[in-house]
Amino acid sequence: MIDYRFNDKTVIVTGSGSGIGKSTAIKYLNSGANVVFASKTEREDVLDVIKSFPSKSIFIKADVSDEGDVESMIKHAFNRFGSIDILVNNAGVSKGMLLEDTASNDWDWVMANNVKSCFLCTKHVIPFMKNQRYGKIVNVSSIAGRDKSMVLGASYSTSKAAIIGFTRHMSSELAKFNINVNAVCPSQTKTPLLDALLTEEIEEALLKKIPLGYIQSPDQVANVILFLSSDESNYMTGSIVDINGGLL
Ligand SMILES: NC(=O)c1ccc[n+]([C@@H]2O[C@H](COP(=O)([O-])OP(=O)(O)OC[C@H]3O[C@@H](n4cnc5c(N)ncnc54)[C@H](O)[C@@H]3O)[C@@H](O)[C@H]2O)c1
Repeated sequence: MIDYRFNDKTVIVTGSGSGIGKSTAIKYLNSGANVVFASKTEREDVLDVIKSFPSKSIFIKADVSDEGDVESMIKHAFNRFGSIDILVNNAGVSKGMLLEDTASNDWDWVMANNVKSCFLCTKHVIPFMKNQRYGKIVNVSSIAGRDKSMVLGASYSTSKAAIIGFTRHMSSELAKFNINVNAVCPSQTKTPLLDALLTEEIEEALLKKIPLGYIQSPDQVANVILFLSSDESNYMTGSIVDINGGLL
């Protein structure tokens, strides 16, 4: 069934070179949206998707922790499609290490990619969304921000908790402009980020803890992101939505 929910809407998905971001961006394309795939890594499989939707999608190479890149990405997106209706702050990185082994640079790197990126992209889409009196922002936090990470370090858990605070704050700051800001907290999801961390042992231990008994796919996270950015969830703002198979 074709879903036309997002016809004429323009969406920026950060970190859409792989994993959750890529699945989300493809779902928006299949739902009629104009989609900006924004990532610091260019990947052939993503460029192939874009080639099959030439009038509806573009790839912008951008490091979303860099303000100059963010400003030009957003201007480019607006010039190409004429509006920016939805922003998905999905880009993220991780470091798995004990705090005592965490260098100051590692800490800053995680905060820049996971939190500053969210701040910068949100800051620079606000003028466009305010002008339109319409906007939907979905931030990708994590179960680690709600609780703690099983496999990653304190920098990651702290960065994801910051996104929850940012979401709550921005939802109240932007509500009067008809801009909704929500966040999702996925548990472990089958993506390259997780694959790099999972040993057989960790996976086995994890599966025992998940009440639904399996590790979710990126598409299952993408479905909730699309819902939170659709007009079906217009009365939701400041919500932090768990997608965790019952783990928390
Ligand atoms: N996979 C999981 O288990 C899981 C669970 C909860 C939350 N998350 C969160 O979901 C989001 C997506 O993760 P994923 O698992 O799909 O990972 P992934 O590594 O497959 O994808 C992340 C993408 O973000 C891009 N990226 C990172 N920093 C960037 C920057 N500064 N500028 C532009 N692009 C940047 C990477 O190049 C990559 O393409 C992240 O925020 C992650 O923390 C993942």
